[in-house]
Amino acid sequence: MKLLVTGGLGFIGSHTVVELVEAGHEVVILDNLSNSRIEVLDNLEKIIGFKPKFYKADLMNIAEVRAIFEENEFDGVIHFAGLKAVGESVEKPLEYYENNIGGSINLLYCMRDHGVKKIVFSSSACVYGVPEQNPITEDSPSNQVTNPYGRTKFFIEEILKDCAIADPTMKITILRYFNPVGAHHTGLIGEDPNGIPNNLMPFIQRVADGRSDKLKIFGNDYPTPDGTCIRDFIHVVDLAKGHVKAIEKIEDKTLRIVNLGTGKGTSVLELVDTFNKVNGDLVKYEFAPKRAGDVPANFANPERAKTELDWEAHLTIEDMCRDAWNFTKNTDKK
Ligand code: UD1
Repeated sequence: MKLLVTGGLGFIGSHTVVELVEAGHEVVILDNLSNSRIEVLDNLEKIIGFKPKFYKADLMNIAEVRAIFEENEFDGVIHFAGLKAVGESVEKPLEYYENNIGGSINLLYCMRDHGVKKIVFSSSACVYGVPEQNPITEDSPSNQVTNPYGRTKFFIEEILKDCAIADPTMKITILRYFNPVGAHHTGLIGEDPNGIPNNLMPFIQRVADGRSDKLKIFGNDYPTPDGTCIRDFIHVVDLAKGHVKAIEKIEDKTLRIVNLGTGKGTSVLELVDTFNKVNGDLVKYEFAPKRAGDVPANFANPERAKTELDWEAHLTIEDMCRDAWNFTKNTDKK
């Protein structure tokens, strides 16, 4: 298939480009470089053997997006582009709603006007908020979101559902990711956020290479076996392969919602200990007060992905820690 990948130079987008190309698809990348680097394109070339077609364009500029749809005949779209910092979204809700929702609507207009019916959308397990129970199935309440970033995901999901009602010939798959970490085994692409990261693994990587002194583990008296929060960490390459399956199976259903997780909960402390075990004792940590809004535990029920997409995660926490560090070591960020 010929696929437009929005946000294709970002963390999950770039890994998905690799897996799509390796599965034989033709990929065109759209990215505004707001939280990614143009060098990713060169690194993609090193991995896949050629430079993928790239447009520096912003979904907020519908004229730019239209021009891309006029120049290319797409079979489908994989839509990653969006702002994703939870804390920033609390401070700048309007920017988040405008960019994430407005950008998605522009994209959907262009798809509609050019008869492009297939879209895989990058959503998040944060739509489940504080889960009533673990593991979380796709039928759990998904309107319990605790921050504007997460609400943009929820609203875009709702918009997509309405699009499916308005045009039942559309094929829409919504993927709800748990906690993607790790990097490509080559160390050429990985997670490289601008500025001080908020998420756990990028912060661990920062401590490991000496840019920060110590990791603060937020809370050690949660009702979990070791007192730290439990998450479903998933290797980004497994996650990327989930997108390949999602687009290849998209014809089966007008609207599909699928969790992408491993089904296995790992505590923050277990992740840090594994990182230190696999890579040498690089990460010092201290316990700090809880972070507002954190849920004690969430992990996926990944059954639907297995039965409907024939996909399951294979890579381990060790693989995630080794590959994340391999990427950080390879990249000069000082
Ligand atoms: C967060 C967002 C979620 C988003 C996801 C990916 C919230 C409530 N959720 O998930 O909406 O989809 O990121 O961007 O913000 N931790 C530390 N020290 C740190 C950083 C994190 O102990 O320096 C802990 C956190 O308290 C948490 C766990 O690590 O228990 C994972 O945190 P993080 O990587 O930010 O992901 P989530 O909070 O699960």
